[in-house]
Amino acid sequence: MWIVFESRDGSTTVLSEEFGVTYHSKYGAIQESRHVFIKEGLHAKCIGQKELSILEVGFGTGLNALLTCLEAEKLSLKINYTAIEPNPVPDEIIKQLNFCEKLKVENGHCVLHKLHGADWEKTTILNSQFSFAKYKQGIESVALNSFFDIIYYDAFAPNAQPELWGQDLMQKMYEALLPGGILVTYCAKGIFKRTLNSVGFKVETLKGPPGKREMIRAIKKPKTCTLPIDPDTSPSNPS
Ligand SMILES: C[S@@+](CC[C@H](N)C(=O)[O-])C[C@H]1O[C@@H](n2cnc3c(N)ncnc32)[C@H](O)[C@@H]1O
Repeated sequence: MWIVFESRDGSTTVLSEEFGVTYHSKYGAIQESRHVFIKEGLHAKCIGQKELSILEVGFGTGLNALLTCLEAEKLSLKINYTAIEPNPVPDEIIKQLNFCEKLKVENGHCVLHKLHGADWEKTTILNSQFSFAKYKQGIESVALNSFFDIIYYDAFAPNAQPELWGQDLMQKMYEALLPGGILVTYCAKGIFKRTLNSVGFKVETLKGPPGKREMIRAIKKPKTCTLPIDPDTSPSNPS
């Protein structure tokens, strides 16, 4: 069961009765998504780029995808967006969300409805700057290509779904990113930072959105170029 309610910035969000958690911060759904995923994720990575591939873990209400699609237009950026969601929010709940109104996107043409209406397991071209594919599976079982620039890690919190924050999955996330790629998430737990470190990420702790002290951006270190050493001319064997 899902219950819609208004967060403190006036945008709606959803409470999952099954997990006993909300889909966004009660301090502001749009405010949180903009801060964690758009500002510290997309904006941090888009400099000098013409095209980016984004993976979202936990499509939920579609708010992150909606904001990203609107941002692609503003930034003149082409985005290939892949969203994972095993338990879609029903249409009657989506209809009660006020994102389009709050973002001043004309409701009839709102991208949000196109995102939710798109076929599963297929790529839909929403417009010349945004292609979208969603998969109705858990992130554990989905086979991923290793070409993502950004991962929006927006699963339910570790206390609700601890299995989604462990080492095996973070290893999978690391492998799905291109060198220099980033994973952003609202979660800033110490144990999660150590897990990210253990699979090779460089972890940055950033200021969180209002109501939350911190968030995480984890970077897959770019490959360093090591030249082959010629044993005859190496410093340890001077001629
Ligand atoms: C915090 S909410 C996501 C909020 C969403 N990004 C939004 O903008 O509305 C977490 C989402 O993760 C989904 N989820 C649960 N188990 C999952 C799994 N194994 N793999 C991927 N997503 C999962 C939930 O169904 C829920 O939609």
